[in-house]
Amino acid sequence: MPTFRVPLKATIDDSYDIEIGERLFDTLIPDLTGGLFPGVHRLAVITDRNVEELYGRELLALLERAGLAASMFSFPAGERYKTRETKAAIEDSLLDAGYGRDSAVIALGGGVVSDLAGFLAGTFARGIPFAVYATTLLAAADASIGGKTAVDTPRVTNIIGLFHQPKKVYIDTHSWNTLTDAEIRNGLAETVKHACLGDRSFFEYLEGHVDAFAGRDQNGRAIDPEVAARVAASNCMIKHKVVAGDVREKNLRQVLNLGHTLGRALEPLANYTLSHGEAVSIGLAFQLKLGERLGYVGAADRDRVVKLLERIGLPMSLPAGLPVERIIASMHTDKKSRRGEIRFVFQKGIGDMMRFEGGAYSRPVPDGVLASVLEESY
Ligand SMILES: NC(=O)c1ccc[n+]([C@@H]2O[C@H](COP(=O)([O-])OP(=O)(O)OC[C@H]3O[C@@H](n4cnc5c(N)ncnc54)[C@H](O)[C@@H]3O)[C@@H](O)[C@H]2O)c1
Repeated sequence: MPTFRVPLKATIDDSYDIEIGERLFDTLIPDLTGGLFPGVHRLAVITDRNVEELYGRELLALLERAGLAASMFSFPAGERYKTRETKAAIEDSLLDAGYGRDSAVIALGGGVVSDLAGFLAGTFARGIPFAVYATTLLAAADASIGGKTAVDTPRVTNIIGLFHQPKKVYIDTHSWNTLTDAEIRNGLAETVKHACLGDRSFFEYLEGHVDAFAGRDQNGRAIDPEVAARVAASNCMIKHKVVAGDVREKNLRQVLNLGHTLGRALEPLANYTLSHGEAVSIGLAFQLKLGERLGYVGAADRDRVVKLLERIGLPMSLPAGLPVERIIASMHTDKKSRRGEIRFVFQKGIGDMMRFEGGAYSRPVPDGVLASVLEESY
């Protein structure tokens, strides 16, 4: 039988801008009328019900005023709605409303919205463009960079999805003022993680300025916009540097797991009573302790990180009453564990990461060592 080879080598330019500022609808609208999505005639604003109320209606009115054809598609807020079912329901609504290949998506909200809406955009009509308008500190810090989109299943989180890069990301730091303190802490946990893994001077900046996030009050006093802008920019730069060095998650990207090996294991064990940020904070503190035991980080640097997490109001102790064996068993089921080994990434001091044999950023840690460090509590 003859064989025909289909040559499919592609050079793709997926570059996009991330704009950081306050109240960015004023730049989003001119971007849209100016051709951010060439050939697109209809926009779908995908958001959750909280953000719809806070910002969605205002955006829709502005889009209509600018003469753009747009509708809003919202779903109940929360991780438990980041599912295939929610995606399918929105897809059906889009089809009912006549959306097709000449459409684009605006993901307005936090990481749940950008993950779900980005995934939907990546598969709808075999892929339509999307933009992210990030309204949480966590989405700004983490979810809007890297092009990873996904939904959860009852068994595993973020397992069904694809890489689909947005055309532009807007980080509206003014919208952080309506976040709850718990959501701010969630974002700050990932922010501290970024500083620890990649930028000592940013860590020092956080030591000097993190109280700006605690300064919000009922009378509408806002987070200092300069601090917010610096935090957003440094987060983007650190995450971008990691992702650009390893777009498809071969090695370097593992450093983003700092604090997550234990953190992810704790979330289900604590029946999701710990927020993701709280779990990551406990994981960061544990990794420091383990790293100190293994000689990767000194006591002075460890104390500085612990102090910063404490000031933010993040926990460092394991939830009471959790048997160490269950924690270790849960870490073994992590989707990132390999060949039955629990692998960790470690800080090398503050702002740098350890490298191991063959240049790997992670190393296996025997269960016995994990158990003995888990048994000592902070
Ligand atoms: N794709 C990635 O690379 C990546 C990276 C990190 C996290 N994530 C994902 O991000 C999600 C977590 O992100 P998140 O914390 O932004 O979750 P989220 O989108 O659920 O937002 C948290 C809560 O804040 C509300 N909210 C959003 N913006 C608001 C605002 N400005 N004011 C008041 N309330 C507001 C939301 O309605 C929600 O209730 C997880 O699903 C996680 O898997 C993805």
